[in-house]
Amino acid sequence: MIQDGDDGPSSEAEAEPAAVRRRAGGAESSRANRAWWDRNADEYQDEHGSFLGDARFVWCPEGLDEAQAGLLGPAAGLRGLRVLEVGAGAAQCSRWLAAQGARPVALDLSHRQLQHALRIGDGEHGGAGEGDGVALVEADARSLPFADGSFDLGCSAFGALPFVADPVRVLREVRRVLRPGGRFVFSVTHPMRWALPDEPGPEGLTVLSSYFDRTPYVEEDERGRAVYVEHHRTMGDRVRDVVSAGFRLLDVVEPEWPGWNTQEWGGWSPLRGRLIPGTAIFVCERDEAGG
Ligand SMILES: C[S@@+](CC[C@H](N)C(=O)[O-])C[C@H]1O[C@@H](n2cnc3c(N)ncnc32)[C@H](O)[C@@H]1O
Repeated sequence: MIQDGDDGPSSEAEAEPAAVRRRAGGAESSRANRAWWDRNADEYQDEHGSFLGDARFVWCPEGLDEAQAGLLGPAAGLRGLRVLEVGAGAAQCSRWLAAQGARPVALDLSHRQLQHALRIGDGEHGGAGEGDGVALVEADARSLPFADGSFDLGCSAFGALPFVADPVRVLREVRRVLRPGGRFVFSVTHPMRWALPDEPGPEGLTVLSSYFDRTPYVEEDERGRAVYVEHHRTMGDRVRDVVSAGFRLLDVVEPEWPGWNTQEWGGWSPLRGRLIPGTAIFVCERDEAGG
């Protein structure tokens, strides 16, 4: 799970949220996660901004970099392509795409995350200023505000898909806005991590719950309202979601933990990374048929 576990409400007067497993619908999940990312964006960017880089395209806490991985195709082929980044956060990946000559649109649910995108783009931390070439859009990935076939490529590095109750709806939306044959690559928490506690140390290596239990992880306030939600899909579910949304699945990448990466990120750590995968990256292509 991508969040770090200790991010309660910002006001000290409020109680810590309780972590439970319970059902959470599409609207409830989006509402909770929009507010969570708005509240926690500053701390998230403080903590992870230097690892993410202002204009790098990092797929996951393992540190797999698009410049080396080429999952969207060779970097030289990105020039001029219209690319949609779904759940872009502070748009670091989109800034890398723009530097390759692509025309990225960075979409996110959270206003505060997009304010960080503006801050970096304005050059506060070495961004390229107003001409950074990234368009920002605040919207829910469940209803994309774009015309059919308006993008050549789509990507998402832990954006939206781990957080939505209805991933097929998001995948269908992405398929709709891609041109026929367009590629969509997205990373999510590796499904097997759900059976283990979200801890970076040895306690994170003991199976405590069923891999097959899809009940969402929910943090709720004292009135039982969801304040953060993540949704679990098994590996088979993810494959079926991709195929039923109208994509061909070209590859599933499970990045191994590299020796150079000594950094922990929530439950991701060198200790666990050497033994079990933490991320799954799905490389998909929209079928050629229209509609
Ligand atoms: C872990 S961040 C990923 C962003 C970036 N790749 C990074 O690593 O920081 C997850 C992002 O997904 C966004 N998000 C969550 N649910 C979403 C939804 N339904 N639609 C669009 N964005 C969503 C959050 O606001 C957050 O910015």
